[in-house]
Amino acid sequence: MSFKEKLILDKIPRHIAIIMDGNGRWAAQFGNERTFGHEHGVESVRSVVEGAGEIGVKYLTLYAFSTENWGRPVEEVNALMSLLVQAISNETDELMKSNVRMQVIGDVKSLPEHVQEKLNWSINKLQNNTGLTLVLALSYSSKWEITEAIRQIAADCKSGIVDPANINSELIDSYMNTSGMPDPELLIRTSGECRVSNFLLWQIAYTELYFTPKLWPDFRKEDLFEAIFDYQHRERRFGKTSQQVVS
Ligand code: IPE
Ligand code: IPE
Ligand code: MG
Repeated sequence: MSFKEKLILDKIPRHIAIIMDGNGRWAAQFGNERTFGHEHGVESVRSVVEGAGEIGVKYLTLYAFSTENWGRPVEEVNALMSLLVQAISNETDELMKSNVRMQVIGDVKSLPEHVQEKLNWSINKLQNNTGLTLVLALSYSSKWEITEAIRQIAADCKSGIVDPANINSELIDSYMNTSGMPDPELLIRTSGECRVSNFLLWQIAYTELYFTPKLWPDFRKEDLFEAIFDYQHRERRFGKTSQQVVS
C-alpha cells in the first residue's frame, strides 16, 4: 500500500514548509556542476506541488533562496535566478490548470528586476485560483522578516496606529510576510542536515520537524506523503499532558 493510501484524510496539514536542500551534493554524485542539481530540483518541486494539491494541502511554502544564499559565487546566484524565471515561465500554465495560487515571502525588492516582473506576472495570472497556495520564499530569512516586522510595529506605535499595550502574538503575526496563513504543522528538510537555517523561526514555534537524508532532486510526492504519514502518527501536546490531549 502506498503512503498516499495510508493517509488519514481529515488530518492533512493545512500548511507544509520545505527546506529544499542537497542540490549541490546531488550533482557532485555525478561529477556535475552544482547548477545541474538545481535544474533537477525543479522536477521535485513539480511533483511535490502536484502531490500537495492532490490531498488538499492549503499552503506549501518552499525555501528556494535565502538571504544568506546571496553570499554564494555570483555565477551560482545568477544561474539560480535564471532557473527561477525559466521555471515560472514553463510551469505557470500547469499551475493554472491545477488551480494553484502563488505568493512570495522575502525581500522581493532585492531580486533582479526581470525576476520580480516574472513573479508578478505569474502571481497575477494565478490570483483567482482557489486550490493550493504555493508560497515561494525568495531572498528570505526569518531574522530579516522579524526585523522588518519590529521596525513597522515601532513606526506604527510612534504614529499612534498601535498601542504598545496591545502588542500580542496575533498582532505580531499580522506584521509577518506570512500574515493570514496558518502556521505550518509540518516542516520538512531534505539532505540530512538537522537545522532550520533562518527559516520561519516565529511560525514554527510548535511545528513538527521531519528530516530526511534524501537529497532534494530525489524527493518526490511519495516522499511527501511518507513525511505526512509520519506526522499523522505523532502526538502533538502543545505543552499539555498526553492524557489531556487524547481525552
Ligand atoms: C539547496 O541545495 C538549494 C539552495 C540553497 C538554493 P544546495 O545548493 O544548498 O545544495 P548542497 O546543500 O550544497 O548540497
Ligand atoms: C537553506 O539551504 C536555504 C535553502 C534551501 C534555500 P542552505 O544550503 O543554504 O543552508 P545551510 O547554509 O547549509 O544551512
Ligand atoms: Mg545546502
